[in-house]
Amino acid sequence: MWPSSRIANLDKSIDDWVLFDLPRIAVLRLGHRPSRDKRITTHVCLVARAFGAEGVFISGVRDESIHSTIQKVMDAWGGDFWVEFVGSPMKVLDKWKASGGVVAHLTMYGIPVKQVKDMIPSDRDLLVIVGGEKVPAQYYEKADFNVAIGNQPHSEVAALAIFLDRMTGGAWEGMPFKNARLRIVPSERGKNVEQY
Ligand SMILES: C[S@@+](CC[C@H](N)C(=O)[O-])C[C@H]1O[C@@H](n2cnc3c(N)ncnc32)[C@H](O)[C@@H]1O
Repeated sequence: MWPSSRIANLDKSIDDWVLFDLPRIAVLRLGHRPSRDKRITTHVCLVARAFGAEGVFISGVRDESIHSTIQKVMDAWGGDFWVEFVGSPMKVLDKWKASGGVVAHLTMYGIPVKQVKDMIPSDRDLLVIVGGEKVPAQYYEKADFNVAIGNQPHSEVAALAIFLDRMTGGAWEGMPFKNARLRIVPSERGKNVEQY
């Protein structure tokens, strides 16, 4: 399983959580178009951050509003997360593989996650690719795994959330977010938010 062993709570204090130096998870979001994808790409970033990835590479049209939205979320809710616009997403893929990482491309045409999950090595850095409109054939060829979250069309946001949940074995639920200004105290009704 992915980072269940990556996280150890040494103390009861959230600032004493230790992230061991175990495999990284990053996301490559292909083909961002500001006019159509602003919310979807922002949601890809939010899901990546919440469910255990360390950052998102975005290809397509550079869009500073994504940076500023994610920065605002981090200012309030904490964590170290990065968003990087890239000119050549294929170079990101090649570099990731050349440095020993594994690449999983999420697509409705792939192998069902249930079948492929245990073949994805959990001791190597993982790059998860999600597409936009049309993903060029080269990504299907170069990815180590083409993974389907069901063989029906839905959304990159949903696909990413389910994939990260499966790959982390749900360990994202215990993940700390350092330097948060706001923290939610879960409550049955209403909103209980602590400020720091
Ligand atoms: C608008 S959808 C396009 C669906 C696309 N024809 C495909 O190959 O999955 C955009 C992205 O959502 C993700 N996606 C949608 N449905 C998926 C599914 N069933 N399994 C995995 N990923 C999916 C893929 O990353 C895809 O590139």
